[in-house]
Amino acid sequence: MTDDIRKGLAGVVVDETAISKVNPDTNSLLYRGYPVQELAATQPFEAIAHLLWHGELPTDDELAAFRAHERAHRALAPEVRAAIDLLPTSAHPMDEVRTALSVIGARDETGSGSVLDAAGSVEDNLARSALLFAQLPAIVAYGQRRRRGDQLVEPRDDLDYAANFLWMTFGEEQDPVVVDAFNRSMILYAEHSFNASTFTARVITSTMSDLSSAVVGAVGALKGPLHGGANEAVMHLFDEIGSADRVAAWLDEALAQKRKIMGFGHRVYKSGDSRVPTMKAALDALVAHYDRPDVAALYDALESEFVGRKGIYPNLDYPSGPAYSLMGFDTVTFTPLFVAARVTGWTAHIMEQQASNALIRPLSAYVGPDERHIA
Ligand code: COA
Repeated sequence: MTDDIRKGLAGVVVDETAISKVNPDTNSLLYRGYPVQELAATQPFEAIAHLLWHGELPTDDELAAFRAHERAHRALAPEVRAAIDLLPTSAHPMDEVRTALSVIGARDETGSGSVLDAAGSVEDNLARSALLFAQLPAIVAYGQRRRRGDQLVEPRDDLDYAANFLWMTFGEEQDPVVVDAFNRSMILYAEHSFNASTFTARVITSTMSDLSSAVVGAVGALKGPLHGGANEAVMHLFDEIGSADRVAAWLDEALAQKRKIMGFGHRVYKSGDSRVPTMKAALDALVAHYDRPDVAALYDALESEFVGRKGIYPNLDYPSGPAYSLMGFDTVTFTPLFVAARVTGWTAHIMEQQASNALIRPLSAYVGPDERHIA
């Protein structure tokens, strides 16, 4: 029996999906058939949400309608803002995001309110997904501002998703180079098949629970440093190492202590993460824009030293951590940015799970005491 155990479900295929395909042999990642690199180079993030939910890129008219809807739903309801304000600024931003999404879900008046129809219709769930998509920039941006002691910045409906997200965070319009890098990062983080948080969302959905509960559960799974928390952890490494000339000595000590080097390694990709070259190009553009060659030098030194010694390659969190830092995001805000992106993939999977549901309920091998009785 124990021979059958696949710890961590490694290598286990649990279901079919038409949303994305990860091919570790060719280092490729397709969203609904399109290579993610092509999407990141040509599309606004709004089009990716449409692609993941509906299976096709939007027509011009569909994109215009989707954007108009998104712009109309950006502002936080006073009750959601009040719930965020109840939290101490010492709370981790992922707890803040989780709470805000939970409040949005609890305020949803679609359906009868009975658990028996919690799952809702396809139309209800598309509307719920679009609402979370539109609200997350305000939640994340306000979180960073609040921690800095700054006031909330209202959304601007003359800006697209990426430009408005940066506007609400920094209260200033950003250079197109920065907007483009940010848009690319959102697209690269949007979807990645049955990763831990997506699987969590599918498990919750499989009980016929509601979309909001599934998303809130996914946020909890994403928070861990072996998953979404890694981009934040990468920046702590950069701060700890300090400069490129200290990398070799730092790595000697870290490896001697058997530390995991955050931003490297992947459960699926063993010879390089398909998303890294696109995000590294965006990071290079930011390094040039902000004139920060020191960041690029540290990045390159740690990568070549670690890959050379261990043969373990960077994952997307490695370039995205320093990219977000250069843009001006606080390190603790990185994983919430991942939520804003990945909510598109999570909700696509929730709707796919609902369309062909089977309760997810694996078995376990019992290794506790044999049957015994109270004497
Ligand atoms: N730093 C140091 N060693 C690493 C490593 C890393 N980042 N990633 C993997 N390894 C080593 C492991 O220690 C293990 O060595 P061992 O066989 O001597 O015990 C071996 O490589 C296999 O690693 P394992 O943890 O079994 O691989 P996995 O597929 O279970 O784990 C991750 C994948 C992502 C959990 C793992 O690579 C990791 O912890 N990376 C750092 C966190 C991170 O960047 N996460 C974001 C993922 S997108």
